[in-house]
Amino acid sequence: MAILLAGGAGFIGSHAAVEFLNAGYDVIIADNFSNSDSGVIDRIKTITGIDAICHAVNVASYSELDKVFSQYEISDVVHFAGYKAVGESVQKPLLYYRNNLDTTLTLLEVMSKYGVKRIVFSSSATVYGTPIKIPLTENDPVGSCTNPYGKTKYFIEQILTDAADADPNMSVVLLRYFNPIGAHESGIIGELANNIPNNLMPYITQTAAGIHEKLNIYGNDYPTSDGTGVRDYIHVMDLAKGHVAAVKYLDVHTGTEVFNLGTGTGYSVLEIVDAFEKVTGIHIPYKIMPRRPGDIAECYACIEKAERVLGWKSEKSIDDMCRDAWRWQQHYDGTEKHAR
Ligand code: UD1
Repeated sequence: MAILLAGGAGFIGSHAAVEFLNAGYDVIIADNFSNSDSGVIDRIKTITGIDAICHAVNVASYSELDKVFSQYEISDVVHFAGYKAVGESVQKPLLYYRNNLDTTLTLLEVMSKYGVKRIVFSSSATVYGTPIKIPLTENDPVGSCTNPYGKTKYFIEQILTDAADADPNMSVVLLRYFNPIGAHESGIIGELANNIPNNLMPYITQTAAGIHEKLNIYGNDYPTSDGTGVRDYIHVMDLAKGHVAAVKYLDVHTGTEVFNLGTGTGYSVLEIVDAFEKVTGIHIPYKIMPRRPGDIAECYACIEKAERVLGWKSEKSIDDMCRDAWRWQQHYDGTEKHAR
């Protein structure tokens, strides 16, 4: 029996592939490399010593996906196949709705044809919108997302929940990621960044590499310890392990369960800059700018449920996240294909 990683060549998917292979699973990756680099498949092998089977297919295409399901005994699916750039989703909402919903609906239809009942979905803390209280628990209200990307995550959660409600044998796990950063400790795989990344850590590593003159810090007048925004940053390898725990949980439950995957601890932008400087010895010049529209002051997870039910807990520190992100940045020489 094999596990299908839909969108498994991307940032989270490729790190999850490493963990699944290391845990002894037969891994099949389905990815059209629209936002990833096909060279990652060889790099996964370099790390694990094991071949992941990869099919260059569009997960939104029924016929292409059907061919993959027809060749293997697939028992479980982990669904990472979606566009993820918040700003782009505001500019091109239909692209986001079409792609992210189509990959999900096609997966569910093909799974149904082959009697595959178990799926883990790559959701996001963005579904909580502006938190009414922190730490955020899985029972807090969702759906008030501020951008189309976030809404696709929310809609997909609803679609999967409805599918599980309609089939008593179906097992769905929704994983709400907080802020995944870092890279595999080898520095061989990591996140493909746009030329001008929107997220904090790639911007810091590119500034350290001399690509940008300075980091813009968006707001120092939030009601937080130092005025800068606070987030729950989680090492991508911890996140990857959370997927292995979630797939094991698919064996023992039916219906839909949702889990926050974070560390439970918030760090401010300035604390991240400090940690990065300490770990790498590189000074990061920065300038305080106005707040970024749509940003919230503070966000971190209640992680009690994931620990209690999945037996999973993050292990890596903020220093590990900074060190590994920097190692990847140094490896990343621009020959890998840039993001769309
Ligand atoms: C964003 C997305 C979220 C997505 C996540 C992926 C929004 C509203 N949310 O979260 O949906 O799942 O990325 O990791 O876009 N910052 C700076 N300077 C920068 C970049 C960021 O000061 O150049 C600050 C931000 O203001 C924020 C913190 O760093 O306080 C984290 O920002 P970022 O990495 O973009 O993540 P989120 O906005 O939390």
